[in-house]
Amino acid sequence: MIAYPEAPAADAMLAASQSNEHMLAFLNARRSFPAAALKEPGPNPEEVSQIVRMAMRVPDHRRLAPWRVIVFGGEARADAGEVFAARHLELNPNATLEELDRERRRFCCAPLVIAVISNPDGSHKTPVWEQELSVGALCFNLLLVANAAGWAGTWLTGWMAFDRQISREFGLHDHERFAGFIHLGTAKEKVKERPRPTTESLLSYWPGK
Ligand SMILES: Cc1cc2nc3c(=O)[nH]c(=O)nc-3n(C[C@H](O)[C@H](O)[C@H](O)COP(=O)(O)O)c2cc1C
Repeated sequence: MIAYPEAPAADAMLAASQSNEHMLAFLNARRSFPAAALKEPGPNPEEVSQIVRMAMRVPDHRRLAPWRVIVFGGEARADAGEVFAARHLELNPNATLEELDRERRRFCCAPLVIAVISNPDGSHKTPVWEQELSVGALCFNLLLVANAAGWAGTWLTGWMAFDRQISREFGLHDHERFAGFIHLGTAKEKVKERPRPTTESLLSYWPGK
């Protein structure tokens, strides 16, 4: 198992910036890996706890931690698949066996799926939008930390992420919703680069008045 660094002490003085060429190369070439092509092993419970701890170091206005995570591993992945298949059949009474099988296998390719739940406080002065952005940052940071620890993964949603009945079955409260399912495991192979947006079309400087 890779050595996960300990959390800095609460009163530690941290470097404000740390130039790091390895980190730049890592960010320059990072990629998601298709969930269907993930294989065993995945991070064990101790590693999951370290990955989640580090991933939670995200900007979070007024320190609300407006999220929580639910991990699906082992048999729980197939059990989740049964919930998806049953709901799919309820919504689509003419569903084929093939479709139902696909729903059953949704969480089964990756050794581990981390569901990230957005849990905003609507009464707080930090806007819900900002709280949700923090949750998105957590999702991506989970991928980055897991990648840095040697795991491959991807951030998926799918129809289940938006179905209230499914949310309730997994214990989500009415104000909560899935921000994503982070599928983690070992990459079977290398992954091809995909076209990326160009800075020319998306970056501008405000010219001033
Ligand atoms: C919120 C969110 C939900 C996503 N849901 C799906 C999904 O359900 N299915 C899918 O194929 N890709 C989904 N993606 C896209 C993949 O996570 C990923 O961005 C894509 O495969 C390219 O990966 P890369 O640019 O990180 O290499 C989603 C991305 C985000 C940010």
